[in-house]
Amino acid sequence: MAKVQHTPTTTDAGAPVESDEHSLTVGAGGPILLQDAYLIEQMAQFNRERIPERQPHAKGSGAFGNFRVTGDVSAYTRAALFQPGTTTELVARFSTVAGERGSPDTWRDPRGFAVKFYTSEGNYDMVGNNTPVFFVKDPMKFQHFIRSQKRRADNNLRDHDMQWDFWTLSPESAHQVTWLMGDRGIPRTWRHMNGYTSHTYMWINASGERFWVKYHFKTDQGIEHFTQHEADQMASADTDYHTRDLFEHIRDGKYPSWTLYVQLMPYEDAPGYRFNPFDLTKVWPHGDYPLHEVGTMTLDRNPTDNHAQIEQAAFQPNNLVPGIGPSPDRMLLARLFSYADSHRYRIGGNYQQLPVNAPVAEVNTYSKDGAMAYRLTSDPVYAPNSKGGPAADTDRHGNPPSWHADGEITRAAYVSHAEDDDWGQAGTMVREVFDDAARDRLVDNVVGHLLNGVTEPVLVRAFTYWRNVDPDVGARIEEGVRAKQGEKDPKADQQANPARSSMQRKA
Ligand code: NDP
Ligand code: HEM
Repeated sequence: MAKVQHTPTTTDAGAPVESDEHSLTVGAGGPILLQDAYLIEQMAQFNRERIPERQPHAKGSGAFGNFRVTGDVSAYTRAALFQPGTTTELVARFSTVAGERGSPDTWRDPRGFAVKFYTSEGNYDMVGNNTPVFFVKDPMKFQHFIRSQKRRADNNLRDHDMQWDFWTLSPESAHQVTWLMGDRGIPRTWRHMNGYTSHTYMWINASGERFWVKYHFKTDQGIEHFTQHEADQMASADTDYHTRDLFEHIRDGKYPSWTLYVQLMPYEDAPGYRFNPFDLTKVWPHGDYPLHEVGTMTLDRNPTDNHAQIEQAAFQPNNLVPGIGPSPDRMLLARLFSYADSHRYRIGGNYQQLPVNAPVAEVNTYSKDGAMAYRLTSDPVYAPNSKGGPAADTDRHGNPPSWHADGEITRAAYVSHAEDDDWGQAGTMVREVFDDAARDRLVDNVVGHLLNGVTEPVLVRAFTYWRNVDPDVGARIEEGVRAKQGEKDPKADQQANPARSSMQRKA
């Protein structure tokens, strides 16, 4: 066997290291010396290796690739990355929402589907999920929602009781919960799931005309899912199954791809549409707004340093480019603030200078200094100036994406549209999209979930919740839970979860 050639180890300052194995000591049995700066560097750097994990979406991985335009949507957006013939480099990251960094990839949960396009006009981040809708429609509830999916204060356990408590007190969650408890709640792999913006965005064309748009990244591998049983088995057999699957397929040259389609709504349609088109708990039925093909995203390059290229990747929905803007969706508008705030805490103020986050487009910013500044600042350091510093080119980018807003400052629900309600689209999915077998699995999944620690009065509310989605499915869920409860000794439950039973006693 050929002898492996090693390059000489150096300190972080590049000086040759005397030993990879032995600390500097006074005699072989004597004390270690503080002057062994290399040992100290090794210990100190090790102690600083972890950064805070993402608050939601902590567990995930990703890869690099490109987006190639195959359709022609230039009549709807001037965005450089969507013009015919354009190919744009990108990084994508997939994730679960509630689990921590080491949690199983196959837990039932929505999956994050985040893409950073390095466009010629700056980074464009599409930070979506594998679901077209979400659990809540006002950002005030997002933090509470995520806490209800994570861990209790007392025993640090996840708790289905608090999940269903939140969901049943938040009927707007019904569409997404139905989706989550259905087959797509556990994708077989990240390659076998779709991605959606979920939110409505604005597109603006070269003439300044505005359109509302939703993105659908459809997997070219086909949709596949795990049953609850298969997922449970996989969670113990291979905690990192999805991470491994993506890495190995790309390593072996079997590059996964997704075709991007968009639904487009004329700007003027929004006020009169039968659903509030900005309500994140609703889809636009395909029959109302069909899909238009835009292009293909292919992932073809693995990270070589997962920490530097994936853990430190900073996706932020406010990374928008000319031709693409936000919509009045309140969730989206709040997200435009939240992510960059999270990155400044999680990674550091100059996170956008890291290679994975740095745009390929030229950066001419007045931001300067701060910890770990890497990009060089030059004079003048202020604007306006008469010294030749950067100046905003308003002619080039036109007017900012905008819409008319007027009214008293208030805290209120969205204005209702004709068919807005919390149950309708969930019921359509159960009755018209799921077949009998998928409906049976939905009932089994919900029954199993409810039996895992959900107590009164939440349980009764859960039955009502499902009857509102669909009377038949609701009745079957209640029957299923009551039948299984009849088989169980209630005292056994209390012993299994002393924290919960003591909470109940207090209540
Ligand atoms: P369509 O019959 O045109 O679309 C139904 C869509 O449901 C399919 O295109 C597919 O989305 C999706 N779907 C299929 N199986 C499942 C599943 N097990 N879990 C979740 N989604 C699934 O009807 P409409 O557009 O009128 O929508 C009817 C209902 O379908 C909606 O109320 C909504 O609940 C659901 N749906 C609609 C989507 C939309 O954007 N219109 C997207 C996803 C779900 P895909 O083609 O994206 O794979
Ligand atoms: C991650 C906030 C809703 C998709 C995150 C993070 C925060 C956050 C703080 C961690 C970011 C980081 O540290 O890197 C919020 C808020 C929301 C919201 C405040 C609503 C008000 C949504 C919705 C979607 C979504 C609706 C999907 C449509 C994601 C994804 C990630 C993420 C994919 C992980 C990105 C990555 O891979 O790095 N969110 N979120 N979030 N969120 Fe949200």
